[in-house]
Amino acid sequence: MSSMKLLEVSKPRYATPRTSDRETFGGKVELISRGLALPLMPWQQSVVDVFGEQIEGRPAYRELVLTVPRQSGKTTLILAVMLHRALYYGRPQRIAYTAQTGHDARQKLLDDFVPILERSPFASLVERVYRANGDEAVIFTNGSRIEVLRNSISSGHGRTLDLAIIDEAFADEDDVREQALLPTMATKKDAQILIVSTAGTERSLYLKRKVDQGRAAVDAGHTSSGVPNRRTTRSTGRRGAAPCPRSASPCKRPQSSTP
Ligand SMILES: Nc1ncnc2c1ncn2[C@@H]1O[C@H](COP(=O)(O)OP(=O)(O)OP(=O)(O)O)[C@@H](O)[C@H]1O
Ligand SMILES: [Mg+2]
Repeated sequence: MSSMKLLEVSKPRYATPRTSDRETFGGKVELISRGLALPLMPWQQSVVDVFGEQIEGRPAYRELVLTVPRQSGKTTLILAVMLHRALYYGRPQRIAYTAQTGHDARQKLLDDFVPILERSPFASLVERVYRANGDEAVIFTNGSRIEVLRNSISSGHGRTLDLAIIDEAFADEDDVREQALLPTMATKKDAQILIVSTAGTERSLYLKRKVDQGRAAVDAGHTSSGVPNRRTTRSTGRRGAAPCPRSASPCKRPQSSTP
């Protein structure tokens, strides 16, 4: 198959297009991925290029919904995005990783992410890895932290987060996980939430709502805060990446300078 054909095959079915005159941190995420010895695949690059778009120094998208097939590289992409936040955001960042259960998130962080990190050039930037049950976290020398959150409604209490990850969103039959995370970001103007999953079942009610919202945003041509953009594309392929318009409550209090 020619490379042109391959590019056709991997075209997303729904995707918010890149707004080319905006700055993006997508290139920095790519550099991090190279450091991890997992250079981004073209679809991964196009997702982070849009997710990383900035308007006046702040993320253009509060929320990204990404659904791609199994074993495509979703969780690997999440690691690179989390490391970018943790290490290259200018001030210490607090990041929460969640998966279908707290146990799954713990395993992913400690058994998958940490070994990749430890054999990468970023290892010297890790101050400590907490492995105790309920306390799992990676603490960086700059004060940033990536921690595991449980999926209960109280798990975010007392926290403010800069980046929240909902991995394996198909597993959620309700909004509990998101409801635990959104208040933690309410006062952070440049917080982002990344919702990632493979296709769900008829029980994946949370994911279905997110995918419907994302597709509606693409169809409406929304780029960032709901402003229609005529360059929006819709095509017929297998993969979909749909950064949605800002969806969290408006930020009323000033942003604190520490996480
Ligand atoms: N950019 C990349 N370059 C090379 N290999 C990659 C890249 N991204 C992911 N992989 C490899 O592909 C495999 C699947 O990656 P990953 O676990 O991130 O996929 P996934 O979509 O999250 O899978 P699942 O559907 O099981 O959750 C892993 O072996 C990973 O190392
Ligand atoms: Mg995965």
